[in-house]
Amino acid sequence: MKNCLSFLLSCLVYTSQAQVSSILPSPVTYVQSEGSFQINQALTVNPSEINSSLFTQLKELGTIYHQLRIEPNVQNAMLQFKKLENVKQDSYSINVAERITISYSSDASCYYAMTSLMQLMKRNENGLYTPKCFVKDFPNFQWRGLHLDVARHFFTVEEIKRFIDLMSYYKFNTFHWHLTDDQGWRIEIKKYPKLTEMGAWRDSTVDNHYTTVPRTYTKARYGGFYTQEQIKDVVAYAEAKYVTIVPEIEMPGHARAALAAYPEYSCTGKAQGVEGLWGIFDDIFCSKPASIQFLKDILDEVIPLFPGQYIHIGGDEAPKTRWHSCPKCQDIMKENHLKDEHELQSYFIRQMDAYVTAKGKKIIGWDEILEGGLSPNAAVMSWRGFDGGLEAAKQGHYVVMTPGSHCYFDHYQGKGKDEPLAIGGYTSLEKVFTFNPIPPDLGPEVSSYILGGQANIWTEYIPAFSKVEYMAYPRAIALSEALWCANKPTYDVFLSVLVQDHFPQLDQWKVNYSKSALKASVKTIRTNTGIELKSTEQSIENGKIKETSISFPFTRSKKKTKTETVTIHPEDESIRQTIQITNHLALGANVRFVTEPSPKYNGGDIVLVDGQFGARPWKGHEWIGFDTNVIVLEIDLGKVMKIHEIKVSFLQDENSWIHAPNQIVIESILPKRSDGIGMKEGPSIDGYAPNSEIWNLPYKGKTRTIRITISGEPEIPNGLPSEGNIPWIFIDEIQIN
Ligand code: ACM
Ligand code: ZN
Repeated sequence: MKNCLSFLLSCLVYTSQAQVSSILPSPVTYVQSEGSFQINQALTVNPSEINSSLFTQLKELGTIYHQLRIEPNVQNAMLQFKKLENVKQDSYSINVAERITISYSSDASCYYAMTSLMQLMKRNENGLYTPKCFVKDFPNFQWRGLHLDVARHFFTVEEIKRFIDLMSYYKFNTFHWHLTDDQGWRIEIKKYPKLTEMGAWRDSTVDNHYTTVPRTYTKARYGGFYTQEQIKDVVAYAEAKYVTIVPEIEMPGHARAALAAYPEYSCTGKAQGVEGLWGIFDDIFCSKPASIQFLKDILDEVIPLFPGQYIHIGGDEAPKTRWHSCPKCQDIMKENHLKDEHELQSYFIRQMDAYVTAKGKKIIGWDEILEGGLSPNAAVMSWRGFDGGLEAAKQGHYVVMTPGSHCYFDHYQGKGKDEPLAIGGYTSLEKVFTFNPIPPDLGPEVSSYILGGQANIWTEYIPAFSKVEYMAYPRAIALSEALWCANKPTYDVFLSVLVQDHFPQLDQWKVNYSKSALKASVKTIRTNTGIELKSTEQSIENGKIKETSISFPFTRSKKKTKTETVTIHPEDESIRQTIQITNHLALGANVRFVTEPSPKYNGGDIVLVDGQFGARPWKGHEWIGFDTNVIVLEIDLGKVMKIHEIKVSFLQDENSWIHAPNQIVIESILPKRSDGIGMKEGPSIDGYAPNSEIWNLPYKGKTRTIRITISGEPEIPNGLPSEGNIPWIFIDEIQIN
C-alpha cells in the first residue's frame, strides 16, 4: 500500500510538472509527451498554407527569437498549418509530434500560435528543438491592452515600434496611444498646424518629483510629434502584429498644450504656454460651439488614420472652475437645462459621441464620463478602481478595467529606496498577476460587458524609453497572464517560468526589464535589545522557488544618533538594496497607539521606531497614517533613561491630502521607585510650528514612558486639494536621543 501510494504521488508530481510549459502567457492546455522534435538551424514551411503577411511575421519571429531560418518546402514541411472553423474566437492549437502542426481560427490566432511555438523552442548541441507536446489555447479577454503616454515624454517612431513588438510577443492586442495632454500635443493636424508648431513644444520641465518643493525646472525646449505619415506607418506596423491602436485625444481637460496654440477655444481666451509642470490644470476646453467644432475638426483627421473601432476622448480630471465662471458655459447650461457642470461635461461628451458614432466608430473615455450621465454609445475605461466600470457595465456599456491598484505601471514595483523615481503607489508583479477585470460574484450578464483590461504607463517620471521598458517589464507579462489565461497557474509557477525562460529572452533582446520582484523582502523585527532586519529572497532551483533568509541585528544605541547601512547584494545592481538604520534610544521600543492609525496605512507600530525613514514620494508602507487630527501615542523605553531630545518626522504632501501637524506636546511618566512601583510625572514640553515635517524637541531629564500628543489642522484650508476635509497625518519615525 505504501509503495502504491508513493508511486501515485510521484505520478502526480510528474504530471503536474510536465504540464508547465515555457509559454507566457500560459496556454489553457499544455500536455507534454516523451521525446522532442529536432529543428536545428532551419524550420521548413509550405508558404501557401498561410498568407504572405503571416509568413513575413514567422520569418521575423524566427530571427528575433532564435536566429532561426524559415525555409519554404512545399512537399514535406516540418511546420504545417490548418485552418479551424467553428471554434472559440482567436483559438489555436499546436501539436508537436512527427512534425509540427498549427491549427488556427483567425490570422491573429495563427500569429499567437507562432509566438507560442517560438517560446517552446530550446537549444541543444544540434540546434533548436521543441518538446513533443500538445497546446490548446485561446484568450480569456478580448481587450488586452497597454497604454503609453507620449505627451509627458515623447518617444520616437522606432521606440513605439519596439513597444508594439514586445507587446505582440506577449499576445497583447490593443495599444492605447495617449497622444495629447497638458504638456504636449503629439499628432499632426493639418487644419490646425499650430497644434504641433506650438503645442508640441514646452520651454521647461519640472525636475524631481512634482511634490518636491521648492520646485526647480530644466529650462530647455522639449517636445516632438508624429506626422500623419508616421502615424499611418505605425498603425500598419501594429496591424501586421495584430495590435489595434486606440488613439486618445484628451477633452475637455488636459488641454493646455492645445490651448497654448489656440487659446480662443478656452473659456478665458488667455494665452498660456505649454505646461512644464505635472498635475491637473484649470484651463480646459470651453464648452461653446466653436470649441466643440474645433474638436470635431480634429477628429475628422484622427478617425481616418486609425482603422480600429474605438477613439478615446479622455474625459478625466477636468476641473470645472473655468466653466463655472464662464458666461458662455453658463448660458449653455441654462439653454439645455443642465443642473451642474458635471451635466455640462456629459453634454460635451454626448456631442462627441454622436459625431464619432455617425462616422462608424465608438468612443471610450475615462470613468469620469459617468459623472453627469453616461453618453449612450460610450465605453468606459475604469481607472479609479473597479466601481466606475461596474456601474457602466450595469448600465449596459462596454468596459475596460484599468484600476490603479493593479494596472498603473507608473507606480513603484519594488519597496526598496533604490527603485528609480516613480509617481508613487506600489504595484508589484504579484499584484498585477492577481488582477481579474471581473470582480468576484459578478453575474454573467454584467460580466459580458467587461471587455478586458489594460495597464497604463504615464510618463511624467519616465524620460527615456529604457525606463518605459523598466516600468513595463516584467509587469506586462504578468498582466498578459491575467488577461489571456482563463486558468492561471500559481504565482510561483509563473515566476519560475518567467525567470528561467523569459528573463534570458528579454536579456537577449536587451530589454531593460526590472528584477525588483526578485529583490529580497526585508522585514523589521523587534528584539529585546533593538531590532533585526530579516532579508528573505527567492531564487529558482530546478524549476522551484527556494527561499533563503539572512538577519542583520541592531542594538539600540546609548550614544549619539548614528547611521549604519546594510547593503543586500552589493555585487548585482539589478537586485541591490541599501537600507539605512538611524540608531537611537527608542530603536525597537514598545509603542502603544492610544489613537489607532487608519488600517490602510498601518504597517505595525515598529515602523515608528525602526530607524528607517519613509521614502519620498511616499509609498505607503514606511509611514503610519492617521485620519484624525489629534493623535496620542506612548513609547515605553523599557527602563528609566536620561534623554536630551525627541525628534518626530512627518510627511507634507498636499496633493495626497497629507499635512504635517501644527503642535506636539510631550509628557513623560516614570516610576517613583527603582523597583518600578508608583508613577510620577516627568518634565513635559510643548512645541508649535505649523505644517512642520521635522520636529526637534529638546528635552532635559530622565524618563521611561513618553506620551506624545500630536495636533494637526482641523480641516484642509481653502484652495488646497480636498479643502474642508480632515487632513491625513503621516509619521515615519520617532527618534529619542
Ligand atoms: C488618469 O490616470 N488620469 C486616467
Ligand atoms: Zn466656457
